[in-house]
Amino acid sequence: MQSLELSPRAKAITFSDRVSRISISSTAAVTMEAEKLRAQGVDVVDFGAGEPDFPTPENIKEAAIRAIREDFSKYTATGGTIELRQVIAERHAADLGTSYAPSEVIATAGGKQAIFNVICSLINPGDEVLLPVPYWVTFCDVINYANGRPVMIETREEDDFNLTAEMIEKAMTPRTRLVIVNSPSNPSGAVVAPEEFGRILETTARHGAWLLSDECYCHFLYEGRPFSVGSIPGAKDHVILIGSVSKTYAMTGWRVGYALAPAPVVSAMVKLQSHSTSNPSSIAQKAAVEAMRGPQNSVQLMLNEYGRRRNFVMEKLREIQGVHCSVPRGAFYVYPNIGAFLDGSSAKPKAASPNELAGRLLREKAVAVVPGEAFGTQQHFRISYATSMEKLAEGLKRLKQFFSE
Ligand SMILES: Cc1ncc(COP(=O)(O)O)c(C=O)c1O
Repeated sequence: MQSLELSPRAKAITFSDRVSRISISSTAAVTMEAEKLRAQGVDVVDFGAGEPDFPTPENIKEAAIRAIREDFSKYTATGGTIELRQVIAERHAADLGTSYAPSEVIATAGGKQAIFNVICSLINPGDEVLLPVPYWVTFCDVINYANGRPVMIETREEDDFNLTAEMIEKAMTPRTRLVIVNSPSNPSGAVVAPEEFGRILETTARHGAWLLSDECYCHFLYEGRPFSVGSIPGAKDHVILIGSVSKTYAMTGWRVGYALAPAPVVSAMVKLQSHSTSNPSSIAQKAAVEAMRGPQNSVQLMLNEYGRRRNFVMEKLREIQGVHCSVPRGAFYVYPNIGAFLDGSSAKPKAASPNELAGRLLREKAVAVVPGEAFGTQQHFRISYATSMEKLAEGLKRLKQFFSE
């Protein structure tokens, strides 16, 4: 059998600066840890993964099977088939009131690739990118990968992590090239109200910066109607919209996302994609067409269920003394403050940091959460409630035991 020891040559491998600037996604790292324990027979409750537990709706699966049977298995245009780009534009128009042409749409392998393409296409070394905290981990790493400078905008937990145009105005400099807004937010569930979005757009445009709006959770909103900043008259020259079928249609593994942007920006993204992954899977593209063109009732059913789970999780968290949590208004995460259990607090400390606390929680109670450091804060962890009621009940019971022992 081969030795597992790294050879001196392997130990000496060095990596490019751009790869050395980033780390493995912490949500992926938590999932890997949980899998390891599960393989040892431990009954792990995994609140780490940000992924719907629902199966992909049947009509979507059937469309993919049909595509295979009809040999729709060749390369397509890099930015997606014209059919898919048309459908993306139509669905976006119907749900969010925008008006985009297929030449202003690119289909990608997940929303993640759309974000990667945008940042790598627009950011030069030293360009500043405004990033509201708490942020979804990937934004920060991709900015660093592109050698841009993430400039953090601190939102306040007391205001439910509300982002305002005023905060953005204060952080603007002549080097600001891009402002990222993710509403509803992963991890906090905070939602930017339409009027505030209008003010954010006005501020960003006045400074000549781009506004990247990540709308991956826009259909999972507990009050009000889904909204896109792209629907504001005159917005299109200033905004890049990111979307995905991953969460909306429970299709995380299919890998289809998209961006809507001015045609030259789309062309730059297509150019980059043509030398990396090329088109998203032809079969997944057919499935995505069905997802967006077919019946939409599954989206509402999932939203209703997420709403029920959100209320349950909030109720259970309120029962744990020392934990407090702002009420998420969208997406499927809660972001409780567990500062009372960290060193330096008046209560009995359990750990020095959310990272350490999450490690203890996993080892002692087999509950996986993502520590807040991944999202740029030092007193929180993230729970995903895109999991069954049984798992939520069991996990929250263990959480309560952990914090009251
Ligand atoms: C805020 C946000 N944007 C984008 C994505 C990308 O998802 P996907 O690449 O599966 O479309 C995610 C996934 O977790 C997310 O949370």
